[in-house]
Amino acid sequence: MAMIAAQCPDINVTVVDLDAARIDAWNSDRLPVYEPGLHEIVIAARGRNLFFSNDIDSGIRDASIIFVSVNTPTKSYGIGAGSASDLTNVELCARRIAEVANGHKIVVEKSTLPVRTAESLKRVLQANTNGYKFDILSNPEFLAEGTAVADLQTPDRVLIGGDDTRSGQLAIQALASVYARWVPRERILTTNLWSSELSKLVSNALLAQRISSVNALSALCEVTGADVDEVTFAAGKDSRIGPKFLKASVGFGGSCFQKDILNLVYLCRHYGLDEVANYWEQVVTINTWQKTRFVRRMIDTMFNTIAGKRIAILGFAFKKDTNDTRASAAIDVCRALLQEKARLAIYDPRVRSSVILKELADVTGLSPSELEKCIVCEPDPYCAAAGAHALAVLTEWDEFKELDFELIYRSMKKPAFAFDGRNILPHALMRGIGFDVKAIGKSLSTGATVPAESLEGISA
Ligand code: UGA
Repeated sequence: MAMIAAQCPDINVTVVDLDAARIDAWNSDRLPVYEPGLHEIVIAARGRNLFFSNDIDSGIRDASIIFVSVNTPTKSYGIGAGSASDLTNVELCARRIAEVANGHKIVVEKSTLPVRTAESLKRVLQANTNGYKFDILSNPEFLAEGTAVADLQTPDRVLIGGDDTRSGQLAIQALASVYARWVPRERILTTNLWSSELSKLVSNALLAQRISSVNALSALCEVTGADVDEVTFAAGKDSRIGPKFLKASVGFGGSCFQKDILNLVYLCRHYGLDEVANYWEQVVTINTWQKTRFVRRMIDTMFNTIAGKRIAILGFAFKKDTNDTRASAAIDVCRALLQEKARLAIYDPRVRSSVILKELADVTGLSPSELEKCIVCEPDPYCAAAGAHALAVLTEWDEFKELDFELIYRSMKKPAFAFDGRNILPHALMRGIGFDVKAIGKSLSTGATVPAESLEGISA
């Protein structure tokens, strides 16, 4: 919404939410999310044509186009628990719009939703007693956290799905004309509602599938002596495969991939397509396995016991350049290490310690005083490493690549282990210092053979 406001000064954009604290934060100097470049855009437009308010009803009445952008987490109860999407918030929005709207509105599904949600939305909206007409559009969001501003500024595509009726087509054109202020027309795709809804799930499923494919192969690389960075570099040179999104890791995280794949799996089962459901479910299974495998390797390497050992956790966010920890691989890894009675010294440049402790309290069930005995959040990587038996890199923050590893090595217990869950550390340099480095998809015996950076110069 901030990007629309920034690009279209003549359009008023009002963001409304029930959560007063959140709206206050959006109106303050400390925005509730960290996202590079977002602060500048919000500050430039806020008060001019970008407003944040708790007055939901006025927001609905004043708008011609309403974006429903509420969260749709995986259901934690009842039918479909653990895989279906919880649509409570979406339905509540539709009911509120139906109740207070004062004329025709275009209602846009911005939240990620199961296919055919628009059908339910239509029924709820059309059941309004005032006789007003609504057009429903699907306009899924494809931005990634950490690069959101650039992704919105120059999107690969904008997708708008709508009904094949005159009024549906007019609604599509109305929304397309907003994006067309800064997005080239050929990148604005229009489809029917169901294609648009499904494309969002499919895009995330295909992206996550690439990561699980590479992570599955990383295990094969480790036992055969192949190097996963060399293998993906070679495979990615094929223009049909392409080089992006092939980075082996401790596992994908974030609020979207697992949720959206489980949603897809649920849909397939709903339609009796069990083989299709089983196929996509494997993407999540491999991701869970990769996290478990990482922890097992740590334990095996550290003489089969980590009880009482201090381990420095570098990075807690689900990826770099965000303070978002939702479904971060770090949560599962830390939980497993705590189960083995390790002591954790955690550092993340952007995630507040209160958030780290809350996430770990939620998954371990430990009380704050119990957590304090086994976890400490440190202000920098050097404090985290001091006295530690091992480093574990769980988020690919750039600052971890250029630490003073001599200094860190001297402050650690020996042998000093480093487990690189993101393959970003300078492995050769660290081995030279004396570290025992273990990295994803690198030979179990010797580790990396060629640093990833030097691959750039290799030609076919
Ligand atoms: C993802 C999609 O990339 C966006 O297109 C989509 O709009 C968004 O979900 C959404 O549905 O809202 P996001 O989860 O913000 O975006 O971040 P990604 O860059 O996709 O990373 C997801 C996870 O995969 C992270 O944990 C990341 O570290 C991991 N990853 C990514 C890898 O392990 N390897 C890679 O090569 C790429």
